[in-house]
Amino acid sequence: MSLTFRIVFGDAQNMAEVPDGTVHLVVTSPPYFNAPFDYPDLFPSYDVYCATMRTVAKEIWRVLMDGRIACIVCDDVLVNGERYPIVSDLTKIFMEVGFRYRDRLVWLKPEGYIRISRRSGVLLQHPYPLYFYPDNVQESVLIFQKGRFDYRSVPEEVREASRLDLNEYQKRKWYLNVWHITNVLPLKGRLEEDIAAFPEELVRRLILLFSHKGETVLDPFLGSGTTMKVARLLGRSCIGYELDLELLPIIRQKVGMDNASLLDDAQFEVIIRNDARHLRTWLSEQVKQRRSAARNAQGHSKRLER
Ligand SMILES: C[S@@+](CC[C@H](N)C(=O)[O-])C[C@H]1O[C@@H](n2cnc3c(N)ncnc32)[C@H](O)[C@@H]1O
Repeated sequence: MSLTFRIVFGDAQNMAEVPDGTVHLVVTSPPYFNAPFDYPDLFPSYDVYCATMRTVAKEIWRVLMDGRIACIVCDDVLVNGERYPIVSDLTKIFMEVGFRYRDRLVWLKPEGYIRISRRSGVLLQHPYPLYFYPDNVQESVLIFQKGRFDYRSVPEEVREASRLDLNEYQKRKWYLNVWHITNVLPLKGRLEEDIAAFPEELVRRLILLFSHKGETVLDPFLGSGTTMKVARLLGRSCIGYELDLELLPIIRQKVGMDNASLLDDAQFEVIIRNDARHLRTWLSEQVKQRRSAARNAQGHSKRLER
């Protein structure tokens, strides 16, 4: 089977390279507004963030085939002590663009793998009412549909080739709206370091549940290339948009662009547009400064307690 993989470096608000109604599934995880340890100050305001997401949602609507699904992995974000309701705002934006709100799954991460901060420690220091701040171990997977799916639009042999493994479905409890999946750990030196990558298992389930073999999956916020890697492993073509040109070597490696040992007949294309940016070095520097400021503040409050 011949599969194609296109990576476009540029802003996903414009996906002109993708013709109308040609994508079978969208799996993506948008930037988490100005999350202090991922995207500090990437957007000038929350209004600009929401407007950007609305424009991307309209593009997703345009390129998606009738009846097909868009899965948006997201979570609310805490910036300078204020919580931004990304999950509810994205739900509203996608519905206003025309999508049916089909489901919300909860992706539950194991306790002990929390990536950022343990806010619950506040209550241990101040065991009184109103000091409760829970640690976050979940994200949402919002599932939107463009109209209704007509199963007759897919040839019978393609449906058969895409049959799901009911054993795994039952055993791993895919049928629940809470999925227990370990997150990508922020280990030093790993390919996805400093990228808020989602786990391959999450993408694998979504691709198997919502697309057929040989179809095309789009990720408008490709990041390290997780969606493209999994699409390839599952025999789907993939198109990815990514603003940050500095991620090209990581995507190349993760997707196996230079790996001839994989037995598929994959065609790769990389397009670098004028609106691509260089972000990673700058963002990593900002994140380092914030981490060291947070550590200093912690040390300061510990000294005050003694
Ligand atoms: C949460 S990360 C995606 C991580 C990805 N799911 C993975 O597994 O590696 C969001 C990505 O969106 C990119 N991005 C931010 N704004 C964008 C835009 N307007 N168009 C395209 N990509 C954008 C960021 O550079 C970042 O790599």
